[in-house]
Amino acid sequence: MAKKKKPDNNEPQTLGVLAQYSGADELVAAARKLTDQGYKKVEAFSPFPIHGIDEALKAPAPLLPWVVLGAGLTGLFVALGMQYYMNAAPENAELFGYYSPYQFKISGKPFFSLPANIPVTFELIILFSSLTAFFGMLVFNKLPTLSNPLFRSERFRKATDNGFFLYVDAKDPKFAVNSATSALSNAGAEAVETIEQEATGHTLPGMIHWVGALSTAAALLPPLWMAAAATRPSATPRYSIFWDMDYQDKFKPQTQSTLFADGRSARPHVPGTIGRGGMRDDTRMYLGIEPDAEVAGSRLRTEALLASYNAQPDAPPADGAEEDTADASAEGEESASDEAATPAAAATPPVDPNAPPEPNWVTLPPMPVTEAMMDRGQQRFNIYCAACHGRGGFGDGLIAQRALQLQQPTWVPPTNVHTEYVTKQPIGKIFNTISNGIRKMPGYKEQISVEDRWAISLYVQALQREQTAKEADVPTETLQQLRRQK
Ligand code: HEC
Repeated sequence: MAKKKKPDNNEPQTLGVLAQYSGADELVAAARKLTDQGYKKVEAFSPFPIHGIDEALKAPAPLLPWVVLGAGLTGLFVALGMQYYMNAAPENAELFGYYSPYQFKISGKPFFSLPANIPVTFELIILFSSLTAFFGMLVFNKLPTLSNPLFRSERFRKATDNGFFLYVDAKDPKFAVNSATSALSNAGAEAVETIEQEATGHTLPGMIHWVGALSTAAALLPPLWMAAAATRPSATPRYSIFWDMDYQDKFKPQTQSTLFADGRSARPHVPGTIGRGGMRDDTRMYLGIEPDAEVAGSRLRTEALLASYNAQPDAPPADGAEEDTADASAEGEESASDEAATPAAAATPPVDPNAPPEPNWVTLPPMPVTEAMMDRGQQRFNIYCAACHGRGGFGDGLIAQRALQLQQPTWVPPTNVHTEYVTKQPIGKIFNTISNGIRKMPGYKEQISVEDRWAISLYVQALQREQTAKEADVPTETLQQLRRQK
């Protein structure tokens, strides 16, 4: 390593002259005297701040407030610019090689508006200013300083207790030990001493420089590595320090797995068990059938019976019924609007003579009936059923009309729910029709929740009831209202 020029450490070197004064007023007066004599590098030390000492020392106005102001203004423009770029810059405008993101239209508000941007702006001004004030204070005070020659003076220790000191630095252009000493004494000093450079070496051991340099270099490696990684494409996922549940082993449905002997990723149901929340033992609710109290395992038995009941072959409806539904579909428009829509009197249910007996259908829904439920039923019916059965349930939905128009030979018309045999059905049977379908009609239990299926069943019954409604059935208020509308 090249030899550095250093002051000769063995020759004691004067660093300055220190003088103690009896009080704050004396210190201010002395400081004024010295600066008046032309001394520039004069420092005052006191246990507490003294008014007027800056002025007496002719200390230059500190730079820090201006630096903090600059930082605050920087915060202001950074915040406004950032928010403009993020929210309001024309889409895909290029800025420093980056393309601006979307303009967000939120409740018709302007893309850029000062009031909306104040909070972030305020925060950034405070952030920039306070950080600058804190670190600026350290920098301007040349902190942290590990040691100061003044600390070697016994007397100086009182500076934080009850001592008032003036120090004239040897770097002052006017400095000479003798003249400075006498100037300080003349200004009323109680005691004066010269501060010397320590006789022994005061440089750090060379090792420490090396260790410092190496650890600084090592500390720079991670940020450099991150910066490089951020701009380099990578085929592997980025390194994640906190994984949480970002990545975990999982099996997609219907895939193979080597984990289990049978090669399936999903486990089949264990026979005789029921998943949590799957205990559907309420036969009224889930099957529309009164429970059979006398039979053990009522639900399973009822389910089995129902399955065989629903499995009856697709027997075509008896002639009468088919004609009836076809008619209803054909003249759907009129029937929906006028009274001619009364269901055919002699319609017979399409029954297979070998069909199993009817289950014990419930006649009331398994939950309290509310107006909200009826509304829900109407809405769901119009979504799921009206396409085939028509909004009034006459079997004249748009699909049915179109099929008739195309004269589809295999088309089975949707049943008119006002057909007599349907109007006689208990609600449990309608619920079962919706859930499991009937003959050509598919079941809807996969699409429609059990509550909604009950709501639709109720609405179907409401539609049927409507057909036989009399004037007396309408509340007087509503009736009057209707009359007035007429
Ligand atoms: C894709 C068209 C289609 C949709 C949607 C549809 N149905 Fe049907 N529905 C039919 C057909 C077709 C029949 C007659 C089946 C047969 O006789 O083979 C029928 C029959 C019926 C019957 C008479 C059952 C009986 O006992 O004969 C009722 C009640 C019924 N549907 C209610 C509904 C309800 C409620 C919905 C809504 C959840 C619905 N349907 C949705 C086509 C449909």
